[in-house]
Amino acid sequence: DGKSGQKERGGRLVVASNRVSVPTGRQAASAGGLAVGVQAALRDHGGIWFGWSGELVTDPAERQVRTVEKDGITYVLIDLTRTEHRAYYGGMANRTLWPLLHYRIDLTTCEHEWYRTYAAVNRLFAETLMERLRPEDRVWVQDFHLIPLGRELRRLGFAGRLGFFLHVPFPPAQIFLTLPWHHELGQDLCAYDVAGFQTPTDRDHFVDYARRELGAEVLAEDRFRREGRTIEVEAVPIGVDVREVERLTQSAEARRQRDALQASLDGRALIIGVDRLDYSKGIVERLRGYLSLLADYPQHRRKVVLMQISAPSREDLPEYRDMRRTIERLVGHIVGRYAEADWIPLRYLNRTHSRRTLAGFYRLARVGLVTPLRDGLNLVAEEFVVAQDPNDPGVLVLSRFAGAAAYLDGALVVNPYDVGAVAEALDRALTMTLEERQERHRRLLAAVRANDVAAWRRRYLAALEGEHETS
Ligand code: G6P
Repeated sequence: DGKSGQKERGGRLVVASNRVSVPTGRQAASAGGLAVGVQAALRDHGGIWFGWSGELVTDPAERQVRTVEKDGITYVLIDLTRTEHRAYYGGMANRTLWPLLHYRIDLTTCEHEWYRTYAAVNRLFAETLMERLRPEDRVWVQDFHLIPLGRELRRLGFAGRLGFFLHVPFPPAQIFLTLPWHHELGQDLCAYDVAGFQTPTDRDHFVDYARRELGAEVLAEDRFRREGRTIEVEAVPIGVDVREVERLTQSAEARRQRDALQASLDGRALIIGVDRLDYSKGIVERLRGYLSLLADYPQHRRKVVLMQISAPSREDLPEYRDMRRTIERLVGHIVGRYAEADWIPLRYLNRTHSRRTLAGFYRLARVGLVTPLRDGLNLVAEEFVVAQDPNDPGVLVLSRFAGAAAYLDGALVVNPYDVGAVAEALDRALTMTLEERQERHRRLLAAVRANDVAAWRRRYLAALEGEHETS
């Protein structure tokens, strides 16, 4: 169970992340893996969840810090000014770090002003958090928005255990080096006792960077020494709360949505893709793969429907607007080229759906098409697996560049850049025998369970306590 392997030392768990999701009853799907995972971890554990309130003020004097108590968790929420938000979140986080960490130096913009504001917001967060910390607390900082937070807390005198977890990939050193402030951020990461990554590949990239650029002395694959301190570097994948996803799938809402969708399909096989509308998700390449299925495997025409659900995300950034237009053109092309009077090959929904609705859709789908060009882990793949009927399960087609591919045994693993290979995997998934589908699903479900969100928290916190639990 989730509490084993974890010594109670009286300290609370304090989580910090940019976005904090205070439960409202109905959770949106666009939240991303971090919100889902942290929510599940804190639900069992209690403690504090600290971060941005989601509110913007014009003047720093209007800034408020609110505290909300809910289900044993204390949420501490701080406002940002519009100027801070534009540079720290819209700039440094989403136009510098996000593309860079996803290997997209072609889309990375570097502005000194963004970095200065990013550092200042992290300092402000540290000051606000420090006032609420007890010496025995364990602090767990989440994701690329808050890399400097730990070092700022150290500067303010926090001497307790400090952990960081990166939900997105960590690229090879040669890519990370293109960041003008790589050295600062590298040192920031070394201020933590534990730096956590989704996969061994990400971990190895960071250790390699630290060895080459920061003079780290590597002690083991998951440990190095630098400036007299030892830093644990762990590969611990986040996961889903399996029981929660099962409950979502069994809910009345999920059943209603599934039935309505099923009726509209007229016996056709459903292929489903669900992502935030983000260039890392490989939606354009995925649509080309589907186009190639329709072109090169004509036997599937009229017999399949691809439903691509893309939740709007970061819409005020030009890279996202451009990609949306590209996708819309391609959707128009596919429909115009292949639709018939009584069959539309592609349904494109550029809206957010509830996790219940999505679970209902997953249950019905014959194929889950999860083909990011680069992804920290990808929890859609795991939710798809859990939502299947084990007696008649759908097939997961998964990009080898999703972190989940390192763990999910049983998927059809593809190179998302290889359009022909995606079409071939789709054909294989659509014609797979029931026996093979069941056998693959058994393996997938076992892997999802072994790496669920409780395991993530347990393994990470064991490392943070200095217990060196190995997976
Ligand atoms: C990814 C990131 C999260 C982020 C989420 C949604 O999952 O790892 O940190 O919260 O995307 O993106 P947004 O910019 O809307 O917070």
